[in-house]
Amino acid sequence: MRAIPYMHPTIYNLYLLALHGKSLEKRYRFISGEIGGGQRVFEPGCGTGILADYLYKSCDYVGWDMNPAFVTYLKRKGYNAEMHDIFDFENYPENDVCVIVDVLHHIVPKEQILIENALKTTKKLIVVEPYEAFSFPLPYRIRKYYDSFLGDNDGINPYDNRVNWAYSPEELKKYFTSLGAHKIAEIGKDIMAVFHPDKCE
Ligand SMILES: C[S@@+](CC[C@H](N)C(=O)[O-])C[C@H]1O[C@@H](n2cnc3c(N)ncnc32)[C@H](O)[C@@H]1O
Repeated sequence: MRAIPYMHPTIYNLYLLALHGKSLEKRYRFISGEIGGGQRVFEPGCGTGILADYLYKSCDYVGWDMNPAFVTYLKRKGYNAEMHDIFDFENYPENDVCVIVDVLHHIVPKEQILIENALKTTKKLIVVEPYEAFSFPLPYRIRKYYDSFLGDNDGINPYDNRVNWAYSPEELKKYFTSLGAHKIAEIGKDIMAVFHPDKCE
């Protein structure tokens, strides 16, 4: 069972727009600008693949997700998408840029494992995450109920893990810096981190 936004691609896209407003377009433009043209782009946890629409036409795109409705939607739009677990690092496609958007707060406590392995398989890693995924000042039971039907319940990762994603903007910036990020930016409620694995120690 998934929350309603994860049942249908159009509802998911509207849900994101409601959450981010004008910052939504800004963040994908920022990512596309960081990528540039002529790159092989891999997006683990691609969702509905909004990023693909913002890429330079000269880029190749492949997205992985375990939500069948999202993968089918992307394929119908003519994009290269596969039903695949993002932790299957051995089978990551060759790529120049790996982009991970809004995925880390879903996969707590394995977010660092994903970053460390993505860094081994790409030339550039771009990570985008909200610093406050669960900020409602409501009792636990109500938040969990809301999450299961209307929130971030992707049908893959349990709420009791996801609820532990809680940072201030400065804490999240520090976390990404501690993992080796070379550039940090803030757009709306998102922190954007750019890693150059070849320049990591
Ligand atoms: C919030 S969405 C982000 C989608 C997209 N990156 C974007 O910019 O909108 C998180 C996605 O991660 C996917 N996901 C979570 N755990 C996964 C896993 N282990 N393997 C593949 N996909 C996963 C979910 O199905 C969901 O589509």
